[in-house]
Amino acid sequence: MQIQENYNLSKLNTFSISANAEFFVEAHTEADLVEIFTLPQFRNIKKVFLGGGSNVLFTKDFDGLVILNKLKGIEILKEDSKNVIVRCMGGEIWHDLVTFAVDRGLWGIENLSLIPGTVGAAPMQNIGAYGAELKDVLENVEAIDINTGKNKIFSKEECKFGYRDSIFKNDLKGKYFITAVTLKLSKVETKNITYKILQEYLERNKIEIKNSKDISDAVSRIRKSKLPDPIIIPNAGSFFKNVFVKPAELEKLKKKYPEIPFFWEEKGISPQPSPSKGEGVIKVPAGWFIEQCGWKGKRIGNVGVHDKQALVLVNFGGATGEEVLNLANKIMTAVKEKFGLGLLPEVNLI
Ligand code: EPU
Repeated sequence: MQIQENYNLSKLNTFSISANAEFFVEAHTEADLVEIFTLPQFRNIKKVFLGGGSNVLFTKDFDGLVILNKLKGIEILKEDSKNVIVRCMGGEIWHDLVTFAVDRGLWGIENLSLIPGTVGAAPMQNIGAYGAELKDVLENVEAIDINTGKNKIFSKEECKFGYRDSIFKNDLKGKYFITAVTLKLSKVETKNITYKILQEYLERNKIEIKNSKDISDAVSRIRKSKLPDPIIIPNAGSFFKNVFVKPAELEKLKKKYPEIPFFWEEKGISPQPSPSKGEGVIKVPAGWFIEQCGWKGKRIGNVGVHDKQALVLVNFGGATGEEVLNLANKIMTAVKEKFGLGLLPEVNLI
């Protein structure tokens, strides 16, 4: 295990921000992690964990220790006639796990195809796309307590999943390093094609779903058509979370903007809303608000808003984290002024 000093992180974050970490180390095994967490030198120093670096923005240099998750391995723990229990180490690339599943005809994570990043980062924000979320198939999360170096297994309930949210982003932020994730996948067809954009794509292209790979391929093509490839245009996917409003708020918005898109969503919202009390269960895409404010496709210096998906901020080259943050603040102010709604960042600001 080699600890490096003043380490440049530009290749380790998909925004390609050239920030430096005071200390940097790669963890290849759980023993590496225990060693790192028990080193007196690092006991009281700030720590950040990186997987694929696809959901972070380094707003400045990081005066602490960055630990890169390189724990590898995918194994089938058990199976019966209906299900397969798969355990995957946190440093695996998420899409490689999707490929592992669809190549074996397993159902459950095909809608989550091509989400950038690693398996260890997936529970942090309960990754979701095209009508599916990690929590729908998750069995448990293994993690190491950074203060004691001890292992803990979190059940799905203990993870407190919500829309792009979990206990690891809240009460336990920075306290546990996720080492492995166990999923329950299905041998029996559980196709989920209710997400409007996916459904329309399948109909338009006359695609009949025969196996989970067909969905995986369709989702991959949709994503490629509207989300910028970070290798070409650095970005971190959706920069903001979608907005959830109450029925009365939607009615008010509809009067002024009859064309406003909205989707009823009862799952995945944290804390769980209570529709009987009129709490927000209606998703209004944040991308629409941003577009209405005229920001879609706009560029300021080295940064801008993607022209096909307004939720995505991009680095056209050489941007600093501060520039991205300034753009994000301008967008949040514009949406607040025009609609009275506060957008929240989805990416982790460091
Ligand atoms: N829309 C606009 N303008 C835009 C973008 C979207 O008006 O520029 C409206 C349209 O009405 C469109 C609707 O938003 O029909 C939904 O768009 P899309 O399917 O692209 O989904 P999204 O809600 O904008 C979310 C996730 C994405 C995920 C897609 C597909 C969040 C923050 N984002 O975006 O996740 O890929 O759904 O399921 O929930 C990510 O997390 O990095 C990410 C890309």
